[in-house]
Amino acid sequence: MSAKKGYELKPNPATGRYRLISGNWKMNLNHLEAISIVQKLYFELRDVDYAFSEISIHPPATSLRSLQLLIESDRMRFSLGAQNLYFEQKGAFTGEISASMLSKLNVRYVIVGHSERRKFFGETDEIVNKKVAATFGEAMTPIVCVGESMQEREDGKTDDVLSQQVRGAFGEIAPELVAKAVVAYEPIWAIGTGLVATPEDASSGASLIRDEIERNFGVEVANSVRIQYGGSVTPTTAAELLAADGVDGLLVGGASLDAEAFARIVRSL
Ligand code: 13P
Repeated sequence: MSAKKGYELKPNPATGRYRLISGNWKMNLNHLEAISIVQKLYFELRDVDYAFSEISIHPPATSLRSLQLLIESDRMRFSLGAQNLYFEQKGAFTGEISASMLSKLNVRYVIVGHSERRKFFGETDEIVNKKVAATFGEAMTPIVCVGESMQEREDGKTDDVLSQQVRGAFGEIAPELVAKAVVAYEPIWAIGTGLVATPEDASSGASLIRDEIERNFGVEVANSVRIQYGGSVTPTTAAELLAADGVDGLLVGGASLDAEAFARIVRSL
């Protein structure tokens, strides 16, 4: 990413961490639509908008190559992201995509363990852990998604669920790698429901996650991990969520499919 003078990415002065705002497109948009949205986003944003947070875009795998070429040829300051990978290096795994295939496309961030993958594709903490290791193995950064369901929240199990998912995802991973990870706190009840968590909810989820990382890997690692909030983020709620204590960025679903809305979210800092 080349930065124009005066608009280099700056860390949050309060935490020393670089913010990250990510658009998870899920299973939406073909590669032609993908090109058009990214071009629109690029035209919406001014140089100064890139100074306060890194922006990653996570299209379906069929659009990765097109977006890689677009971003690199026009020197756009977006990081390319994937939504998933398979942890094996290669072989007879029909339909799957490896970490090295993604890193060859200059993918920088990989979403791992999204609740939709846990729910619809049976991803367990063990699988998530292997995917985290595979992502780091190719020098990419995992965005590990964790979050409780409404039932778990009502039963007072949020703390247990988040701790277990964090321990599961990072078990046996070297502390110096964990320090580079991004964790997305995505309460399941807030995903695609329009039920956005309050900044207090986002903050308390982030602190449960950071505390668990501290217990397992120490305070320095915990202080360098970046924690995003995700779940029904809109241009109207983005600013207060980004300002929430312990929140270092946003993982945006639906609103990232609209270039203008996503640009407003990026600008809300
Ligand atoms: P929505 O923003 O559509 O609720 O999706 C959130 C999400 O799951 C991002 O990964």
